[in-house]
Amino acid sequence: MKRILVTGGAGFIGANFVRHMIEHSDSEITVLDKLTYAANRQSFEGISEKRLSFIAGDICDYVLVNELVPQHDAVVHFAAETHNDNSLHDPRKFLNSNVLGTFELLEAVRHHGVRLHHVSTDEVYGDLQLDDPQRFTESTPYNPSSPYSATKACSDLLVKAWVRSFGIEATLSNCSNNYGPYQHVEKFIPRQITNILAGAKPKLYGSGKNVRDWIHASDHSSAVQRILEVGDTGRTYLIGADGEKSNLEVLGMILGLMGRDTDDFELVPDRPGHDLRYAIDASALRSELGWEPQYLNLEQGLERTIHWYQQNRSWWEPAKEQTELRYRQQLHAMK
Ligand code: NAD
Ligand code: DAU
Repeated sequence: MKRILVTGGAGFIGANFVRHMIEHSDSEITVLDKLTYAANRQSFEGISEKRLSFIAGDICDYVLVNELVPQHDAVVHFAAETHNDNSLHDPRKFLNSNVLGTFELLEAVRHHGVRLHHVSTDEVYGDLQLDDPQRFTESTPYNPSSPYSATKACSDLLVKAWVRSFGIEATLSNCSNNYGPYQHVEKFIPRQITNILAGAKPKLYGSGKNVRDWIHASDHSSAVQRILEVGDTGRTYLIGADGEKSNLEVLGMILGLMGRDTDDFELVPDRPGHDLRYAIDASALRSELGWEPQYLNLEQGLERTIHWYQQNRSWWEPAKEQTELRYRQQLHAMK
């Protein structure tokens, strides 16, 4: 697979994936990205133009998608609206990009016979109780909670239907919460790191007992590469690195690593419908495709991530004020 079209490549995981593929393959990459507020072209700094081309455009643009898809051997589809809080306040664009955008890509790969990997989330399975011994597997029923996760579930079902009805060559993956460099400051971990760097208090929703299953974005990238190269058509692979921690624990680590008291944060009103716990069983990916994550210690991964945000203020500072303003407006709208 020499020529890969990466949708949403200017976002967090897409940019990490592009960097991973430049280092770990000889592919030539084209990024197709609409450049929403979540994108940042600075994430490509230092990558040679011989390996990476960038097209600013929308996956909902039928003409553009049908021009680009046949010029490639595979499409890796990351493009989406991704933030749960935004989906509660303005769900329409989630329907457009996540559902209609995926539909346009499916039609294009069907007509041009191009391989597709669809990137999705563990949130399609809903949430687990804190003491539930089960974790999500490929056969867990879909039960999404938020407008965001419902649109991702819808996009997964479209991909599965196109595999079954039209025989397209596609794989899917559902991954747990990612962290690492190039993540937008609206998301939990970078929001708290940059709050501390900007002299503000971290903000914890509700009681902080909610559990997320953290994986470093570079481990997500290596898993997607493995599935793209040797995954079985039509299969769904769950990606996770056994990283379950409560939000309170994660915030405690960040505060400790940044030299603050572990209670130096502010409790803020909870997210409506807030999923309690996600947990991924990735044993099929490990045993069948031989994938192993490299980041096994969350605290060490966080230390490196904090260092990255300290060293790359020009990457995140322009988005910080606007993001915190949006949070204040969303809080006001909830009252
Ligand atoms: P992100 O919000 O950081 O980036 C999304 C990118 O998609 C942005 O660059 C944006 O400009 C682009 N985009 C949005 N709509 C588009 C459109 N209509 N046309 C073209 N480009 C468009 O997202 P992320 O966190 O990097 O997530 C990437 C993918 O991985 C998503 O599909 C998401 O559902 C999935 N995922 C994310 C996580 C996570 O923890 N962040 C975990 C599992 C799966
Ligand atoms: O599980 C995968 C999903 O992880 C992806 O599909 C989503 O695209 C991605 O955004 C992420 O969803 P979450 O809602 O879990 O991530 P978020 O970073 O928004 O929040 C993580 C947890 O932290 C969640 O329990 C809410 C909480 N939180 C979040 C923010 C922004 C806080 O306590 N304070 C905050 O300021």
